[in-house]
Amino acid sequence: MRGIAVIQALAASRGRRRVSELARVTGLARSTVDRVLSTLERLGYVRPYEGDAVLTPALMELGNAYLAASRVPDTLGPIADALADELDESVSLAVPDADGARFVHQATRRRAMSLAFRIGDRLPAELGAPGVLFAAAWDEQDWAAWRHRRAADPDATAFAAVPPGAVAATGDERVFRARVEASHRDGTGVDDQMIEPGLVAIALPVPDPAGGIACALSVVSHTSRQTVDSLRETVLPRMREVADRMAAGLAGPSEASPDETSASPPTHGTPDAPAGSAARLAAKSDLGPEFVESLARGLAVVTALGGSAEGLPLSAVADASGLARATARRALITLTYLGYVTGDGKRFRLTPKVLDLGYSHLSGLTLPQIARPHLAALAERVHDSASLAILAGDDIQYAGRVAVARVMSVNITVGTRLPAYATAMGRVLLAGLTAADRAAYLDRVELPALTPHTVTAPADLDALLTATAQAGFALAEDELEVGLRSIAVPVRDRQGKVIAAVNVAMHVRRRTVAETEADVLPPLRAAAARIERDLRTATRYSGTAVV
Ligand code: PHB
Repeated sequence: MRGIAVIQALAASRGRRRVSELARVTGLARSTVDRVLSTLERLGYVRPYEGDAVLTPALMELGNAYLAASRVPDTLGPIADALADELDESVSLAVPDADGARFVHQATRRRAMSLAFRIGDRLPAELGAPGVLFAAAWDEQDWAAWRHRRAADPDATAFAAVPPGAVAATGDERVFRARVEASHRDGTGVDDQMIEPGLVAIALPVPDPAGGIACALSVVSHTSRQTVDSLRETVLPRMREVADRMAAGLAGPSEASPDETSASPPTHGTPDAPAGSAARLAAKSDLGPEFVESLARGLAVVTALGGSAEGLPLSAVADASGLARATARRALITLTYLGYVTGDGKRFRLTPKVLDLGYSHLSGLTLPQIARPHLAALAERVHDSASLAILAGDDIQYAGRVAVARVMSVNITVGTRLPAYATAMGRVLLAGLTAADRAAYLDRVELPALTPHTVTAPADLDALLTATAQAGFALAEDELEVGLRSIAVPVRDRQGKVIAAVNVAMHVRRRTVAETEADVLPPLRAAAARIERDLRTATRYSGTAVV
């Protein structure tokens, strides 16, 4: 499963790398890298861009599979969020992962701090509040592995999220062991500015039903508000109650929403290509020599394992991935060897290492970054400019734009604001408002004529917005600027709320209105659907910034 090394190499360089460099850093033959990349492209996990290979948000379905199966974010995340609201401090959940702690949930209230860890980031156990709690359960073999890592990588370069120098400052084994023992005695882990000046944290273990540690609950603050001692006094008692509730939550039945887990296998790949999820593709053998089946099968097994908190027996893995038993078994053995799967011989489960496959980087993508490749493909397809905009007060604000030709005299760039009422994107965004918000907008807004064609009567605009909501698109021409036509559709979040609009803008003489609806609307809708699908995958467990 050499292809996994390619994903790892891409993840280690913020999701993007030259193909030639991938061959160098993985030690794989260029031809192998090419085959791996075309396989990943086929699965929808990688896209080519200007000679580079780039990870796509679709890849997050692998990490989502682990997170769903772990039950930690689904079951404990809402409790952590409520604690963050109550304390008005950041709260995080981290799970033990080899000689480190990996974040699986973040409820972030960052002020005055430059650094925020993302889901998928891993800290070495000797750094930060959660790790000492986990190290208390280590045996001599675990300590030997820790020592080996420290000797091989003294600056912890393998931990991409760790600021340089932080690990060296944690001291030697004696110092770490003393911290672990102290933590074992009082049951808390503390971080007094080990990672960043000003950053203080305190952590408690959340026990799992089997008697081990499911995760660490951390409260993170800043020395301008709290010290480690004041955290102990003011926050710790409440944290203990919350940790108890969390333990009870893990002992109870799963609260994961059924549509997100075993019930629906993840599906990716471009909507118009026959390609689908790793699971569907893995079983096919007729995709040509460029397709690395072992890789596709391994990834299919990863997504299949996302369906179960208790782990799956071999036969269930074979069923869920659509693979023959012997094939599924080989994939499981390789994944176990690579550290992505663990098991007792009867049942197999994903490990948090699955989050190493690009999750942290991809969870930091913003909506404009997610949208950009889809806007570019749309613009190329229709030979007109494509843009993404959000509502900013009573204006639309451009958040992304791929221009092919300038047909507008107004010079539009990212950040440009235009009045919502006279633009197709604005109408799509206004049509997505609640009835009360729409009424308030129509009540307060002035609708000056920008051209002789601008709709300026509130009642007419209201009727247009209703029609837009019904049709699912808006078309406006000559209203903002004579000669300009725009057609726009909404982009909705996981809850179905309209959060952005995508448009294609053109000169009115380029096509008739009928041609615009026949030729531009379908690819426009497909682009919005691709953005929404990436957004769904990217926001399953973490928020995505809209701009
Ligand atoms: C965090 O959640 O960002 C965090 C947790 C524990 C630490 C430091 C940071 O020690």
